[in-house]
Amino acid sequence: MEETAHEMKIYTYPDPVLKTPAEPVREIDGELQRLIDWMIETMYDAPGIGLAANQVGVLKRVIVFERQPRERRRNPGVLINPEIVLGEDQIKWEEACLSVPDFSAEVVRKGQVKVRGLDRQGNPSDIEAEDLLAVCLQHEVDHLNGTLFIDHISALKRALYKKKLTKMLKEQDEMD
Ligand code: NI
Repeated sequence: MEETAHEMKIYTYPDPVLKTPAEPVREIDGELQRLIDWMIETMYDAPGIGLAANQVGVLKRVIVFERQPRERRRNPGVLINPEIVLGEDQIKWEEACLSVPDFSAEVVRKGQVKVRGLDRQGNPSDIEAEDLLAVCLQHEVDHLNGTLFIDHISALKRALYKKKLTKMLKEQDEMD
């Protein structure tokens, strides 16, 4: 079996760390590089196509993502302090999240975005994306602001998810 030494714990709803806005990164140091490496490993192990630092319990504005999410070639992208500077057109996508287990729902977002941030060396990095990558980047930047995709769905659908979650947690309890 392949050893996954640096897989980090993924926090799930309703953990408060997911509701807390992350702080801007001010120093690009070895600790940050390690966090980025571990986040990339954790994302691919999950498996997922994007991960924000909040999801591993770190309140720093860092996201990692798969640059070719349809092909899943393990071509990871990193953005530090990302900001969506341009968004055009609308797209509706069935979204899921590693922090919202066993649930997916359609969310309306921008179909094309430009996201501005820093790469892992601290150089300015603009990423233009459309389609699934655009959805993914908006979803991850949302995480840094303490927003989950279930915050974008109707109150009724959200209530159904909470009910399902309560039931799942209860069943887990009974098994323990
Ligand atoms: Ni997510």
